Amino acid sequence: MAIIYHEKSRIFHLTNDYISYIIYVMENDQLENLYYGRRVHDREDFSHLHQLSWRLQMSLVQPDPSNLSMHFVRQEYPFYGTGDYRSPAGEIRLANGSRVSDFKFRTYAIFPGKPGLPGLPATYAESEDEAETLEITLTDEVSGTDMVLSYTLFRDYPVITRHTRFTQTGDEPVMLERALSASVEFLDMDYEMLQLSGAWARERHVYTRRLERGLQGIQGLAGTTGGAEQNPFIALMRPGTTEKTGEVYGFSLVYSGNHLEQVEVSTFDMTRVLLGINPRNFSWKLCRGETFTTPEAVLVYSDQGLGGMSRTYHDLYRTRLVRGEWRDKARPILLNNWEGTYFDFTEEKLLAMAKKARELGAELFVLDDGWFGKRNNDWAGLGDWFCNLTKIPSGIDGLSEKMEEIGIKFGLWVELEMVNKDSDLYRAHPDWMIQAPGRYHCQGRHQHVLDFSRQEVVDCIHDMIAKILSTSKISYVKWDMNRYMTASFSPALPADRQGEMMHRYILGVYSLYERLIGEFPHILFESCASGGGRFDPGMLYYAPQAWTSDDTDASERCRIQYGTSYVYPLSMMGAHVSAVPNHQLGRTTPLSTRGNVAMFGTFGYELDVLAMTEEESAVVKEQIIRMKKYREMIQLGSDFYRLLDPFKGNETGWICVAKDRKSALALFCQTLNRVNDSWIRFRLDGLDADVCYRVRYSIGEETREYTAWGDELVNIGIPIDRADLNTQGGDFASILYELCAE
Ligand code: GLA
Repeated sequence: MAIIYHEKSRIFHLTNDYISYIIYVMENDQLENLYYGRRVHDREDFSHLHQLSWRLQMSLVQPDPSNLSMHFVRQEYPFYGTGDYRSPAGEIRLANGSRVSDFKFRTYAIFPGKPGLPGLPATYAESEDEAETLEITLTDEVSGTDMVLSYTLFRDYPVITRHTRFTQTGDEPVMLERALSASVEFLDMDYEMLQLSGAWARERHVYTRRLERGLQGIQGLAGTTGGAEQNPFIALMRPGTTEKTGEVYGFSLVYSGNHLEQVEVSTFDMTRVLLGINPRNFSWKLCRGETFTTPEAVLVYSDQGLGGMSRTYHDLYRTRLVRGEWRDKARPILLNNWEGTYFDFTEEKLLAMAKKARELGAELFVLDDGWFGKRNNDWAGLGDWFCNLTKIPSGIDGLSEKMEEIGIKFGLWVELEMVNKDSDLYRAHPDWMIQAPGRYHCQGRHQHVLDFSRQEVVDCIHDMIAKILSTSKISYVKWDMNRYMTASFSPALPADRQGEMMHRYILGVYSLYERLIGEFPHILFESCASGGGRFDPGMLYYAPQAWTSDDTDASERCRIQYGTSYVYPLSMMGAHVSAVPNHQLGRTTPLSTRGNVAMFGTFGYELDVLAMTEEESAVVKEQIIRMKKYREMIQLGSDFYRLLDPFKGNETGWICVAKDRKSALALFCQTLNRVNDSWIRFRLDGLDADVCYRVRYSIGEETREYTAWGDELVNIGIPIDRADLNTQGGDFASILYELCAE
């Protein structure tokens, strides 16, 4: 790994065993990207890659002999107003109203390690030799603004992280009207763009499209990473790219607020990728001495197809974004009472459920919504973070003691950013909710969003929840966020700072998380937003796991978890077995499939265990035993390979292969059953060709075993008998293959 600066040619070369990223300081002192992709040899001078020829309609910033026009170069961080007519990464409004800026190279620093981003989530290096950082400082002299472009290269990954910092040194304040995290440009447009899009209960479905000239992209404007609709991630890949082959560039934003991922193809077929905080409804006033730091963008390069890209994100995010003691710990198997009781429970019922869950082998009981204030339905109670003693006479502290006596850990649901109008908090502070003056009080799920851009609001919520967490035995918290934001306005901010509100809100959320994980380091946080509406890397920095979707139907989960796996590790994906007919779809799937699919995540149950038959209880017991055997490997010690794409066919297939490739766990799951149909060969991936594996699987009551070499399993595959799929339930049948080196 090295970040080299060739002083004479003014070339920066960031390179490790996998990638090269080459930046050129042009003669006008602006920065050009000469190359980003698979590693190339270093040399003194790459400046011959700087190509320009005279074209009509050029706005020359450097006339003869170079004919330099910013419209035709691949810039590291473009601005509008110096002859480039594409979308900029940054935009600054000066006190005189001008939006022209011209940032010129001033200095640079190269140092070992990776500094944190103040108040923001970010990947980290555990030691100084794991990563190296380059910071290039540019200055716009007219406004007196410094801009630092920060790049970190990881030694062990094909990864570069980027963020940008602006510092005002001039006397007059400036307005940042656009401050994206990164811009990356490519020479041609022969790419497909992949995105993870959806809605509530069908999050992160996979969509691809061919790049076209002009603008394309995705954005979130709902305040929660854009809700379930657009995940803050895109990938560009060469046409024909598969799971195993082809070049892919991943762009992932470590942020939980409004975001933009935009691709622009110019007249000359050059491709510009921009990502960062959505400029809509954003501005930031920068006074002398103040600094604004953008969120981090994580750039992953893969020449091993989409699978290669995903495994890089998985390893990096699991080990260098997640923090705290839960990072390296297998996650507890839980029972969550939500789908089992909704708001309708008593203390006795909860204790009976917990007792049964304990008997089945579960380790954690999660009390979901409905335990606080006057929360008997979703019209009241949010904001009142104290126990509803009518429902739970022992209080949360007493209940947690009783859980401990049962021998099960205890966890609690909260939705700290919200308030119902029917709550003590609202009655005391009606001005704490987000509302634009004179406008209709827009609500969603009968609730309103608290103004987390205000310190006193965050402090008050902190004090309420910290009291509960410190007086009760709580080892897990599910932090929900169940509505989108709109009508953003904060009475605490002056008119020229209203554009800061949405970002300040997210900083407030991050600060509360930071405080709570600092005070209660043993607590496992799970983030949630109406299911997977805030499933983003930013959250992962605070909460090691997230509720993937409110859709608990096993077949739908195949698609949701498959799509989610493009970026996010299995240790992040909350996956529960629920009752049938499924509450979201009315569909009935086999219990074996529900268990098999949920195993590939952080496993649990979300149903009324007391209503289960003896036969079902016996199956659940076995599922829990199996999960305990494999969870360490699945969640912490394996590589994940997608095998059969449910967005393209009737089957889902995937496999977790232990890092030492001595064991593996593969899932085959079909959507609808088919009669008198073709043969199936289920081809695996990631196995060691020279290892002979014992393959074990169950069909109905029968357990079967055989042995096969890794190369056979990868190249020939496992033959699947359609009669076995009938035995496994027909529609939505699945088979779980356990592989172990002989
Ligand atoms: C959201 C969550 C669910 C559940 C409910 C409770 O919808 O996604 O898992 O916690 O809220 O109101």
